[in-house]
Amino acid sequence: MNKNIVKNKSNKELFFIYTYGCQMNEEDSEKLSGMLKNMGYEKTQNKLEASIIIFNTCCVRENAELKVYGNIGALKNIKKENPDLIIAVCGCMMQQKGMADMILKKHPFVDIIFGTHNAYKFPEYLNRVIQDKVQIKEIMDKETKIIEGVPIDRDSDTKAFVTIMYGCNNFCTYCVVPYVRGRERSRKPLDIENEIKDLISKGYKEITLLGQNVNSYGKGLDEEITFADLLRRINEIDGIKRIRFMTSHPKDLSDEVIYAIRDCDKICEQIHLPVQSGSSDILKKMNRHYDREDYLNIIKKVKKEIPGIAISTDIIVGFPGETEKDFEDTLSLIEEVGFDSAYTFIYSRRKYTPADMMEEQITNEEKHARFNNLMKIVNKVAINKNKSYEGSLLEVLVDGPSKNDDTKLCGRTRTGKIVNFVGDTKDIGELVNVKITNALSFSLNGEKI
Ligand code: 5AD
Ligand code: SF4
Repeated sequence: MNKNIVKNKSNKELFFIYTYGCQMNEEDSEKLSGMLKNMGYEKTQNKLEASIIIFNTCCVRENAELKVYGNIGALKNIKKENPDLIIAVCGCMMQQKGMADMILKKHPFVDIIFGTHNAYKFPEYLNRVIQDKVQIKEIMDKETKIIEGVPIDRDSDTKAFVTIMYGCNNFCTYCVVPYVRGRERSRKPLDIENEIKDLISKGYKEITLLGQNVNSYGKGLDEEITFADLLRRINEIDGIKRIRFMTSHPKDLSDEVIYAIRDCDKICEQIHLPVQSGSSDILKKMNRHYDREDYLNIIKKVKKEIPGIAISTDIIVGFPGETEKDFEDTLSLIEEVGFDSAYTFIYSRRKYTPADMMEEQITNEEKHARFNNLMKIVNKVAINKNKSYEGSLLEVLVDGPSKNDDTKLCGRTRTGKIVNFVGDTKDIGELVNVKITNALSFSLNGEKI
């Protein structure tokens, strides 16, 4: 028995999870948490009192990996003082060739290593470590069939992520995801619907459908179904208030999906449509299967069919061979589209991807200079978009106290805008109407009506 174990009021042992990366990883961590709670453990926000610490890793960019190395390293002395502390490392980083061995060599005190395809086996690994005091490293190279019924402990009581498909077939030349998450696999529509019905019965109001490329949902299923069909079916579920989804690859955004957003009252007026670059030459080198003109045409169609839709995107600067002209094309595209928000990234070389092998890598200095310019344009465009909300009355789903000012509440509009306003704690988890008084770059201020 762990002599330093701290137990909470209910006398349960505690676990702490570090989650890096995207919403898919967040959902995976909710599953790890669900499995641990089923085993009788309780979650803590304080790693110093945990008897199990898990690192759910990301390898999309190098800086996410560096954080993981640093944070595992920082546990060395804690583990020395408390040898019964169990440390597990899992997620995308572990699927990379040689990575698990490298972690074990650098940090031999890690107890369990597993990958993305066998996370459902975590309880089994944990029991073996506790009973037999062994070190476990188990990574599966290939994806399995989808495992349903894994318990899930969600972070919110109001909003839930529901994964509809796993993996990616696109092989954008900069990206490791297809190598670490495997090929596309879709969940059966009935499994998705049942999960959502269960969530609604527990009081959830908003569902975000997740997948690396939701637009190609349905391929390979016995039942013939497209993503647009699935959206329409989910919209019919009694009691659901809001539906969102991410991520959409522009090459696969069908007219049917656009019409489904337009026609279905529960689907929010918001779309995340990563463009990555505004230069057709760079898009070709990225293997994105659309050019600047195609993207702008999709945006035109989306804006025409769904007035007021908020459009967000992902942008990479400093891809190999990106010239000053290519970069300027990205800046001009941002202004032309008028994105509501953009996740901006400095290109990060990832081993085994085609882009890593490309000549003409851009210097760090140049990448950072472009990144700073990019941020300026993104922020300028975003504040202009937000300003257009001033004076309007919007429906806000209240998340909880505002992060920067706990006298206020914080929630999101259907378009995904963060709104801070004075309200009553009984509004948390409810839909309220808020009049927008002023706009900032990343949020709106308002008054409850
Ligand atoms: N370098 C920088 N950004 C990347 N992304 C994916 N791979 C890389 C990389 N190697 C970004 C893309 C993607 C988002 C999730 O991460 O913009 O849409
Ligand atoms: Fe990566 Fe491209 Fe797949 Fe997105 S679509 S996960 S960027 S390979």
